[in-house]
Amino acid sequence: MADRYDHHYDRSQGRCYHTHLSRHLIDALPSTGTLLDIGCGTGLFIEKFIAEGGNAVGLDISRGMIHQARRRCPDREFVIATGERLPFGDGSFDAISSLLAFSYMKDPQGMLDEAFRVLKPGGYIALCTLGKKLLTCSIPAIYQIGEIMKVSHVVVRNFGEHYYNEDEMHELFTRAGFSGIQMKWCSFAHINLIDPLFQLARRVEPFVERRLPQLAYNICVNGIKPK
Ligand SMILES: C[S@@+](CC[C@H](N)C(=O)[O-])C[C@H]1O[C@@H](n2cnc3c(N)ncnc32)[C@H](O)[C@@H]1O
Repeated sequence: MADRYDHHYDRSQGRCYHTHLSRHLIDALPSTGTLLDIGCGTGLFIEKFIAEGGNAVGLDISRGMIHQARRRCPDREFVIATGERLPFGDGSFDAISSLLAFSYMKDPQGMLDEAFRVLKPGGYIALCTLGKKLLTCSIPAIYQIGEIMKVSHVVVRNFGEHYYNEDEMHELFTRAGFSGIQMKWCSFAHINLIDPLFQLARRVEPFVERRLPQLAYNICVNGIKPK
């Protein structure tokens, strides 16, 4: 899965989609101190974050993903663990990121509670995950069609993900203890779109994000651990 994941997310449309989401997170995070990326996958976000001068540690539940991440960023630390039980002491990090991984957490509140614990007071969290909006409602149907047609494509497969709306995210972040919670809807040019549609969607993406957020796919949430 890790090889296939890289193939789709580190090339053409996938790279474009991933870079766009990463930008939203990087802009919400400090570039100094050490960041923990939860559900880091093959290290695509960490690669971008360190290219802009940041320092980061990656964590993922999948051995295969971590293997690829270590190859991609050999001088960084990567840990195999679940985001719901972080193997770090209290107040270990200045910032936490999580890109396209929160939807897969079986215990989302547990992950946010753990993120809060390992952050230093005044530390930042920014995550981007699949949102519950008009177009994402069609994704489970796409998965079903994919299953019927026996498509084994990594982006057309049901991994049991959960789609979140603003109220759910606000409640989860508040319960964990975060303050200064901000949300933004992002991405209209989704990786699953076929090419001419993808290019068209890219062109109108800034407008959709500003004026028609009900058509966006992902929700970006950021907050601060109070001092
Ligand atoms: C769609 S990939 C995103 C990977 C990476 N963040 C990126 O942007 O390319 C989702 C990742 O979440 C990881 N994951 C799922 N459940 C997890 C958990 N409970 N703890 C840590 N990682 C998890 C998966 O192994 C996978 O690498």
